[in-house]
Amino acid sequence: MSVRSANTPIPVEVKTAIEGFRLWPGALDAAAQADLVAEVFARLHDAPLYRPTTPGGRPFSVQMSNFGRLGWVSDRGGYRYQSTHPETGRPWPAIPTVLLDLWHATVGWPTPPDACLVNLYRDAAKMGLHQDKDEADLGAPVLSVSLGDTATFRIGAAEGGRTTTLRLTSGDVCALTGPARLARHGVDRVLAGSSRLIPGGGRLNLTLRRAR
Ligand code: SIN
Ligand code: MN
Repeated sequence: MSVRSANTPIPVEVKTAIEGFRLWPGALDAAAQADLVAEVFARLHDAPLYRPTTPGGRPFSVQMSNFGRLGWVSDRGGYRYQSTHPETGRPWPAIPTVLLDLWHATVGWPTPPDACLVNLYRDAAKMGLHQDKDEADLGAPVLSVSLGDTATFRIGAAEGGRTTTLRLTSGDVCALTGPARLARHGVDRVLAGSSRLIPGGGRLNLTLRRAR
């Protein structure tokens, strides 16, 4: 749900039960979602999706790429940020302007994100519970945009204990901030065919962070 004027959609935040986990359901309307997906796929020509492996050598079920000055990568060398695509050796494409605008309209962090992870969930892809902690400043928020099929998203406190699940649908935006910045989170499953937004089907997640 959002309140919109003709040209300037204003994301409307809803309260969540988890302090610091912020949620803007439907922050992007259908037209904005379609435009963003087209822009993302155009940029992926220059930075093709690939399937990373964990430091232990297991392939991820999601396909990944990045936009921005730095991209998050994983391989036998560990988790890290780097300025080039691991397969092409080229710099990552720029972060789409609409995402930079969304960062300012939601979390309002004074400095822009320098990294945008692109995750594509196809078939039975999912993501295990983890923390985002490879960034230099863990005070800066993490902003996440969901596009395409609905995800069952799991989140729990950094220290462990019980977790909560919620559905993230296309156009939803959420953020890990303050006390939830190091929350454990993951995607249990994606409801195949729940959206027709993504060419070839599936779910696209865009995660904006300040890596340095
Ligand atoms: C991530 O934590 O990298 C992705 C989360 C999501 O796909 O919603
Ligand atoms: Mn994460």
